Formats: sequence, C-alpha cells, structure tokens
Amino acid sequence: MQETITPTIETQFEKEIRQGLTDFPKHLSSKYFYDEKGDALFQAIMKMPEYYLTDCEFDILTQYQSEIGTLFSSDNKPFKLIELGAGDGKKTKILLKYFSDQNYKFKYQPIDISQSVLNGLKKSLSEELPQINTVPKQGTYFEALKEINDENGTRKVILFLGSNIGNLLHKQAIEFLKSVQELMHKNDFLFLGCDLKKNPQTILDAYNDKAGITAKFNKNILARINSELDANFDLGAFRHWEVYDPETGTAKSFLVSEIAQTVRIEKLNLEISFSPWETIHTEISQKYDDATVKWLAEQSGFEIYEQYADKNNYYKNYVLRTAR
Ligand SMILES: C[S@@+](CC[C@H](N)C(=O)[O-])C[C@H]1O[C@@H](n2cnc3c(N)ncnc32)[C@H](O)[C@@H]1O
Repeated sequence: MQETITPTIETQFEKEIRQGLTDFPKHLSSKYFYDEKGDALFQAIMKMPEYYLTDCEFDILTQYQSEIGTLFSSDNKPFKLIELGAGDGKKTKILLKYFSDQNYKFKYQPIDISQSVLNGLKKSLSEELPQINTVPKQGTYFEALKEINDENGTRKVILFLGSNIGNLLHKQAIEFLKSVQELMHKNDFLFLGCDLKKNPQTILDAYNDKAGITAKFNKNILARINSELDANFDLGAFRHWEVYDPETGTAKSFLVSEIAQTVRIEKLNLEISFSPWETIHTEISQKYDDATVKWLAEQSGFEIYEQYADKNNYYKNYVLRTAR
C-alpha cells in the first residue's frame, strides 16, 4: 500500500524561525520576544532606571497632552486613534484620560502581535477608563494596515510609540511608512516616538542592565521556541550581547553561543549547529536625529508637522502628515 504524506502548513512563526536559524549569519525577529512571559519582562524593562525611553515619552505626553489633544481634535469631529504595538498602554493612557476628560469623541483601536498584552490592556482600560470605546485587534503592523484602510472620512490618528519604529532598518522603515502614508488622508496624523542619539554609554546601559532583565527578555525568544516548537535550547549556553554604533545610531542585540552545540527543534524536524561564539542577531533599536527623521519622512511622502521633546532632548515625538 502506498503511504500518503500529509503536507503540514507551517505557521508564519515556524517559517520565520526555520528561515532565520538556517541563514548565515543567523537571525530572529524581535517581534517574537512577546508572549505572556515576554510581555511581563518588557514591562519590567520599562521600570528599570536604565531604560530612560519610557520615562521620557511619559514626560512628553504628560507635558503636552493639551497641545496634542487640541491638534487631534482640531476639526471638532470624532477621530479614530489607532495604536501600532500598543503594549500595556501605560503612556497612551495619559492621552486617553485627557481626551476623555475633554469629552472628545474618539474610538481607540490598539493593535499588537501579542494577544496576552491586548487582553491585559482591554481589562485595565475597562477598569480605569470604562467610558472609552476600545476595540483591540491582534496582528502584526503590516496586517494592521488593512485595519487602517477605512474610507468613512473619520480622521485617523496613528500612534507608533516607544520608538517601535527603531526595530526597523531605515529601508524597512521607509517601506512601512510609505504603506501607512498611502492609506492616510490630508487631515490624518501619524504620531511617532523616536529615541534620539545621545551618550553612547547611556544607550548601551539601557539594553544591557546589570540585573540581567534585558538578557532574560532577549533569551525569551529561545524559551518560546523551546515551548512552542518542542526544542532543546540551553538558555545558559547563550550570552546576551549588545553593541551600539554611534555613527549610524544602530543598537543591535545578539545571542552568542558560548560553546559548539547542536539544538533540535522537534516540530520543525530541524537540527541547528552552532560554532563556539556564533551569533543570532535578534533586535535592532535605531537611534535618530532630526535630519534622519526628516529624511525618513520625506522618503515616505510625509512632512513633519509638529514635534515635542523631553527636557534632556533624549527622545522626541514627531507628528507627521502626508505631504501629498
Ligand atoms: C517595545 S514594546 C512597546 C510597547 C508600547 N508601544 C510602549 O511604548 O510602551 C513593543 C510592542 O509592540 C508589539 N510588537 C512588536 N513587533 C510587532 C509587530 N511586528 N507587529 C505588531 N506588534 C508588534 C509587542 O508585542 C509589544 O507589545
């Protein structure tokens, strides 16, 4: 009797893990840091003294909430607030509360790859700000574009906070921004958080804390592969390593194999060999200056309409509008 082999269709996660670990040099996407454990680790990172980004953006949103509100509500019509990679919404809640206190008519649509973080956000909002119409949506930034693409004439304000844009290399960022720009009308805004170039040591410390929380967060991608794809990564045999190039403004995270080792990923029927000190590149965290943001905006059909900085000029929120 002839044996029939049922072809298995790989999920996007499985496909990308296979691709990244069989490439040379090896790489994995930082979007896969975030499961329930990864979300909790990122929330711990935001509380670390070294991770200045959260405090800076928190201060900007607190200080400029009324200017930002005036801008978003300038046509006195309801608007739609779409947030890409919303996370726990800690900083967004400053704006949500202010908008609600001002009786602005708006709908909040947080989008995130992590269902667990969205569940937490929905729950906390229903307790803290139950009056807000919140419609969470699970998906990637690119999938979110379809959600943005509505034609009912309501102003869209797209929030992209936390310097999430910094996870994309300039070329990818331009491609992504272009796709967003194509879906935007003259009256819409893109509200973009960008971490700025600064003392390189301050940046390195933010991604390499002494308590090792960032190391745990980085290794969570291996922990996910272990639990979801039945693999046997020994997390203790990999070292978290961070570099920052002050010329390009690019911070990069790696996991470095400390020994020669072979890892089996059962669900992918795959064995991956590592030489001693071989790397897996896991994240980029791009740092910006005004000229670079202006260039990115121009390349993707936007113009900078407004900008807000924190008192140390560590971080900026830029308001972009379509230039065409
Ligand atoms: C660095 S955290 C920032 C969270 C929040 N914006 C803030 O500023 O606190 C990134 C968030 O974006 C989500 N995320 C990362 N990559 C994503 C992607 N490609 N598509 C959708 N969500 C993504 C993660 O799950 C996480 O909640």
